[in-house]
Amino acid sequence: MEYKDLISKALEAREKAYVPYSNFKVGAAILVEDGTIYSGCNIENASFGATNCAERTAIFKAVSEGYESIKAIAIVGDTSTYTYPCGICRQVISEFADGTIPVILAKNNEDFIVKTLDDVLPGAFTKKDLNK
Ligand code: THU
Repeated sequence: MEYKDLISKALEAREKAYVPYSNFKVGAAILVEDGTIYSGCNIENASFGATNCAERTAIFKAVSEGYESIKAIAIVGDTSTYTYPCGICRQVISEFADGTIPVILAKNNEDFIVKTLDDVLPGAFTKKDLNK
C-alpha cells in the first residue's frame, strides 16, 4: 500500500462530508489487516454533540464489517493545513492499532506528513491497562 492510495481514498470520502454547521470537511481512510481500505467523512448533527468525525466513521465501518486491526490511517481536513485527529478519535484509533502505525496527515496527494500513533497519543490508556 502506498500512502498516496490511502490519501486518495480520504480525499474522495471528504467530498461526502455532511457539514451544514461547521462547513469543515474531513475525510479519513484506514488500511485494515487484509489490505482492505475503509474510508469515511464527518457527519454533523443539529445537536452538535452527535457529530461523528471522519476517522470514527471509517473505523466504525470497518469494525462493523469484522475488522479489528488498523495498519495505517490517512486524514484530510482543511487543504491549507494539516488536520490532526481530535482527542476522541486518537483514543478510538488506539483501540484498534498499535502505537507504531503511520498517521498520515495530508493537505493533498503531494503534500503530507507522517506521524505515528505514539507521536500523537503518547502514554495511551489501552486495553492492556485492563489486562485485555
Ligand atoms: N472533525 C473530524 O471529522 N475529524 C477530526 O479529527 C477533527 C474534527 C470534524 C468534526 C466537525 O464536523 C468538524 O470537523 C469541525 O470540528
